[in-house]
Amino acid sequence: MDYSLKSPSIHFKKNARISSIEEYQELYQESITNPDTFWAREASELAWQKPWDEVLQWEAPDAKWFTNAKVNVSENCIDRHIIAGKGDKTAILWEGELGEKREISYKQLQVEVSRVANVLKAKGIIAGDKVLIYMPMIPEAAFAMLACARIGAVHTVVFGGFAADAISDRLADSQAKLIMTSDGGYRRGKVIELKAVVDKALEQPNCVESVIVFERTKQGVDMLVGRDDWYHDLVPSVSDDCPTQGFDSEHPLFILYTSGSTGKPKGILHTSGGYLVGTYVTSKYIFDLKDDDIYWCTADVGWITGHSYIVYGPLANGATQVMYEGAPNYPDFGRFWEIIERYKVSIFYTAPTAIRAFIKAGDDLVDKSDISSLRLLGTVGEPINPEAWDWYYHKIGQGNCPIVDTWWQTETGAIMIAPLPGCMDTKPGSATLPFFGIDADILDEQGNTCSTGEVGKLVIKQPWPSMLRGIYKNPQRFKEQYWSDYPNYYTVGDGAMRDEDGCIWITGRLDDVLNISGHRLGTAEVESALVEHDAVSEAAVVGKPHDIKGESIVAFVILKDGFEDSDELIIKLKAQVVKSIGALARPDEIYIVPGLPKTRSGKIMRRLLKELVKTGAVTGNVTTLEDSSIIDTIIDIVAL
Ligand code: WTA
Repeated sequence: MDYSLKSPSIHFKKNARISSIEEYQELYQESITNPDTFWAREASELAWQKPWDEVLQWEAPDAKWFTNAKVNVSENCIDRHIIAGKGDKTAILWEGELGEKREISYKQLQVEVSRVANVLKAKGIIAGDKVLIYMPMIPEAAFAMLACARIGAVHTVVFGGFAADAISDRLADSQAKLIMTSDGGYRRGKVIELKAVVDKALEQPNCVESVIVFERTKQGVDMLVGRDDWYHDLVPSVSDDCPTQGFDSEHPLFILYTSGSTGKPKGILHTSGGYLVGTYVTSKYIFDLKDDDIYWCTADVGWITGHSYIVYGPLANGATQVMYEGAPNYPDFGRFWEIIERYKVSIFYTAPTAIRAFIKAGDDLVDKSDISSLRLLGTVGEPINPEAWDWYYHKIGQGNCPIVDTWWQTETGAIMIAPLPGCMDTKPGSATLPFFGIDADILDEQGNTCSTGEVGKLVIKQPWPSMLRGIYKNPQRFKEQYWSDYPNYYTVGDGAMRDEDGCIWITGRLDDVLNISGHRLGTAEVESALVEHDAVSEAAVVGKPHDIKGESIVAFVILKDGFEDSDELIIKLKAQVVKSIGALARPDEIYIVPGLPKTRSGKIMRRLLKELVKTGAVTGNVTTLEDSSIIDTIIDIVAL
């Protein structure tokens, strides 16, 4: 293992937007002591239909950025570039899993997005209405999001891997009036039937008036007359002109549901001006985006990474990007490297879990393609282990590409801690230093800054433009969850420490949130899915370290009287979780146990179960348990 610090090459440095650490420090200092000046200068690179009165109004935890300004996010991602003479520049280079290719220029993007926006209007959607998007990784998913932004409708995108119940929960919470979906999408050569899942979700009470279905896989779907329409019937018949009305800077842009440690997923609310500025500026500096770059983020639009670093950030910068529909291993694990060669990708942003899978698949598949067009690599979603970093750096970056390990969250909207690639030395596993305007600190329980090497709670001490503005319809949960540990500071939920160079290392979640292949899931969600099964009286779920996925799900289940442990039942319980959440939540292991370790007040001690699945033993104090013998019983069951 090569743990040495890696400096950017002289060539990279020379061309980078920020090329010296002194420049970073100066700008960082300004952004913290004088945030209004810093953010106003950056924001003025974008198009505002009416200027702001104040850069920030802050009364913790409520922030208003660019007050009273009027802005249209879609205009900034499309029209602004056309006006600047870049209408013929390619915005999206799309590749389907089956190999089909589409190239969409900014001018074409304007036409497509305007048409979809006009269809939404014709369906009665007005500013503030919610639109649920459940689509595969096709350009129409981005069109749908940008069309909502264009008319001030609020999108809520649901990842295509989620099941019907996950959609109906989100429909109930968001009160969406319209759904944009497709008949299906391709994943590892198979059709994933999205419209059928939507139909199932719509069996629950809902406010949906219209469903617009893009035809992708053509396997045949049910269409309900009066509610469902084909995209290809509606879109060509409307005007391709949809003027960009300005909306208040704090007008909601989207709600994205994400997991917390308790209860159902919460709707994270992001608004227009600040989010646009945050994703624009981070894409520009952290990916060092230039006009001739070919950028590729392999996330799905259903997650925050897809929102911020496929749709809004790169398009606000007028970038050319690759969008790929399918799986990294279809037809084999060489697919990504072929795509990099085909489109001469220069910036590549992916997840550690994918990197670990590539390592396992072998170097031969990389060697088949010429990936020398790469100049910058990125990772996101979970801590990257040094072995994966090392392989990524040497094998994919060929020792030539800085790696930006980007730490952030659905809630933060944009990258918060990451190296600036032209001026910072990087080290495997550290996200390094905070981005401009991000006042990050690591605190102990008393609120003191931790000393070097000491792990504490990561907090952000000042507001930033792309911060969440709330949990949809739940201001109380918003305050309790993020703003109650220390007065006026945003508590992240991750542990972290600083090393002797001041670099930040994220040590992982401090709460009951799992990170499975970079996907965020709450233990409570998986537990409640298990309890939905007739046989289950109680369940406790924990994460276990996993070579590829980072973490895998292990469940401990107490059965109701009259039910018995059997292989068949275990299969059924796994299927139950897939049915209510989706395949991403399928437990790897389920143990039937007679009891769970609980405190005398009845709280499940997941910490002990976590230690048990990780090490096979429990060393922690068990005297506070209601029944400490249960631990030995569970150890025996797991060991069997
Ligand atoms: C984790 C994904 C270490 C972290 C953008 C965070 C990371 C959660 C990193 C948010 C990273 C994300 N290093 N951990 N570079 N990036 N995380 O909301 O635990 O899906 O709190 O946003 O992922 O997950 P979310």
